[in-house]
Amino acid sequence: MTKRFYIETVGCQMNMLDSELIASGLLRLGYEPAISASKADVVLFNTCSVRQHAEDKVYSALGRLKHAKQHNPLKIIGVLGCMAQKDGPLIFRRAPHVDLVVGPSQLGQLPRLIEEVAAGAGPTIAVSSDRKAESHREARESFAPFNPARRAEARPVAHQAMVRVAFGCDKFCSYCIVPSVRGPEQSRRPEDIEEEVQLLARQARQRDVALEVTLLGQTVNSYRYRDGGRTFRLADLLARLNDVEGLARLKFVTNHPRHMTEDLIKAVRDLSRVTPYFHVPAQSGSDRMLRRMRRGYSSSQYREMLGRIHETVPGAAVTSDFIVGFCGETEAEFQRSVDLVREARFKNSFIFKYSPRPGTHAAARFEDDVPDEEKRRRNNELLAVQNAISEEDNQPLVGRTVEILVEGPSKTSLKHEATERATQLVGRTTCDRIVVFEGAGELIGRLVSVEIEKAAAFTLFGRTVTSATN
Ligand code: 5AD
Ligand code: SF4
Repeated sequence: MTKRFYIETVGCQMNMLDSELIASGLLRLGYEPAISASKADVVLFNTCSVRQHAEDKVYSALGRLKHAKQHNPLKIIGVLGCMAQKDGPLIFRRAPHVDLVVGPSQLGQLPRLIEEVAAGAGPTIAVSSDRKAESHREARESFAPFNPARRAEARPVAHQAMVRVAFGCDKFCSYCIVPSVRGPEQSRRPEDIEEEVQLLARQARQRDVALEVTLLGQTVNSYRYRDGGRTFRLADLLARLNDVEGLARLKFVTNHPRHMTEDLIKAVRDLSRVTPYFHVPAQSGSDRMLRRMRRGYSSSQYREMLGRIHETVPGAAVTSDFIVGFCGETEAEFQRSVDLVREARFKNSFIFKYSPRPGTHAAARFEDDVPDEEKRRRNNELLAVQNAISEEDNQPLVGRTVEILVEGPSKTSLKHEATERATQLVGRTTCDRIVVFEGAGELIGRLVSVEIEKAAAFTLFGRTVTSATN
């Protein structure tokens, strides 16, 4: 009988990509997707450790599966990714009905591990022993046979694909658990990346859709691959991928302010497929906080970098992340983040309450002394400032015609299950702005011109002008 799998994904785009690759691997082995955890023979949680909240969610979801496992002891339950690496065998103690614990660098072994558990191997764990030892080689080997297994049906939006350009992180920002769970930074070979993008583009051409590729790295703009005497950087990679036939849009996330070089900004300006969009987290506007966070730049250096982006790529959209309530953050220091948001006029910002992560420098050295309700207040205040800016800055788009890559039906049209041919569609501009408009289902996966009629903080509303070609 066909075995069914269900993957629940928490966390960043890296995890979404890993889940896609896991799904592809299982589909290739003849597994089929299940519509829910209760209908699945294999339930996998692809987890995140960046904040406590993400971990709590997984432990409570695991708790809910306890009865299902008692009812059906053959059901395989796996915990994958960052939490697996961070908590390791502790997961079996907290949730004894878990069968499999697999770290981010061991995901390539997953199909084999599932088979072994199914054959009665008992609780199985595969994680890296430590950051240095084997993890470089392990991560590379684990993903080498894994990456090219790209299948459009394993992605939420088939014509939008992520491609990993680097694993891990070497930055060790003091609050962040990523370097210890995802291992050391290592860039993939440009040839392998291009081959993967070529494969995705071929698949898109066969399906007659316009492909969007997002290059992923924890600090994507520190990408660096040495080959003989030559060093290959992100700007070189973008240039190499820009002309892949069938590729409509090329993006890259997440950037570190220190690596936002002139070359890279100019590449974004000059390369036709690269979208004028920069996600480059500031984390704080206070110099003392930035030092404590070990970010490696001051608020004036960040501002200077923003200036270079806007000067070279007029109209570029910049987005940021902020952490509020970091250890010792005073009200005055928090207000420096508010100042930065006001001045920078980010397209949007992702704002997080500081969550101490055991094992990080900050958790060991500084007190988490901003009370939770104060963190929440700061979060809301910064968000309100950002949202007002997002709404204001969207207004000048009213009356303009923009190019949209159509993603699919909008959430509202899905809710109403529109039966007419024309339905509400959603897509994005080159600057990653969300646009909702009426159109036929055939437009999904195409580039279309839309005239903007109304603008809110997070969404633009418009009508199609003409259908552009791919
Ligand atoms: N607490 C809160 N937010 C965090 N981030 C990373 N570590 C933490 C933490 N311990 C945020 C940063 C990062 C984003 C992905 O998550 O803003 O850019
Ligand atoms: Fe974490 Fe800093 Fe690395 Fe980003 S750059 S993953 S915040 S350590």
